[in-house]
Amino acid sequence: MNILKVENLSKKFGKKEVLKNVSFEINKGDILAFIGPNGAGKTTTIKCLLGLQKITKGKVTINGYDLKKNFVKAISKVGCLVEAPDVYMYLTGYENLIMQKNYYKNISEEEIMSIIKLVGLENRIYDKVSKYSLGMRERLGIAIALINNPNLLILDEPTNGLDPEGIKDLRELLLKLAKNGVGILISSHNLSELESFCNKVCIISHGEILSVKSIQEIKKIDENKYIIKTDDTTKIKSYLSSSDQIIDNNYFEVIKDEIDIAKFIKKLVLKDINIYEVKKEALSLEEAFINIAGGKKID
Ligand SMILES: Nc1ncnc2c1ncn2[C@@H]1O[C@H](COP(=O)(O)OP(=O)(O)O)[C@@H](O)[C@H]1O
Ligand SMILES: [Mg+2]
Repeated sequence: MNILKVENLSKKFGKKEVLKNVSFEINKGDILAFIGPNGAGKTTTIKCLLGLQKITKGKVTINGYDLKKNFVKAISKVGCLVEAPDVYMYLTGYENLIMQKNYYKNISEEEIMSIIKLVGLENRIYDKVSKYSLGMRERLGIAIALINNPNLLILDEPTNGLDPEGIKDLRELLLKLAKNGVGILISSHNLSELESFCNKVCIISHGEILSVKSIQEIKKIDENKYIIKTDDTTKIKSYLSSSDQIIDNNYFEVIKDEIDIAKFIKKLVLKDINIYEVKKEALSLEEAFINIAGGKKID
């Protein structure tokens, strides 16, 4: 069974439709990167999933419960961090956690301690949050989200403003949680930043899902960019397709698979075009997705 199933979710603010038939799923242990530029509809989607925005049309099912019909049951195993973590700066990390703990019954000191250890704050948990780095505050926010032992964790742009160290810590934490079977939705406007986090990528642009793919599928498309050197790139213009590009007078890039690149080079050589160098470069995730989206830029 899916942990989260989103079916044809639509959201209107007045007449403005900001989400159009958004559909995707999260299974046990999935880390779904929810990617799209600012204004694409990521936060609105997330708020709809959490019942913080009313759904105009469509269906959200969490752990088998319809969010509209059975809100309390559906939301009971969801942890979230939307926008900045909601923590008191003048309290210690530990005090912040205890305050949250009091909202729930039956949470033992051992469980609190194991969450603290899981998020890697055991050495700093008795320090005031005002002394924490942004990354540590983020992890405290996740610790708070984990108190009710969720099996779905939803994080809206948690990497915003984190330094590379903070991103690495967050990545390790999320991989640990996913290994324990938690399904995770993590949003970002930066595709390359989440490349190493996730096993699925869902791209949203102008309120529409352009594509949902596994990371393996994306990596496959990821290998086919070639940088080619010639003496005058104006001569090769007519041989390029829409995804190819001239870089400068000498270099141009083409996206092709292994069979087609051989044919392409042969064709150029037969047209008496000098080729000095053919270099294979990995496509960035961002570029791979632009290709998937049929050359459409994701903005
Ligand atoms: N409360 C609201 N009222 C009207 N429009 C909104 C509201 N919240 C968001 N929007 C609009 O919905 C679109 C998607 O916004 P948002 O979900 O915040 O995007 P993202 O999180 O991807 O940056 C934007 O055009 C934004 O202006
Ligand atoms: Mg947002």
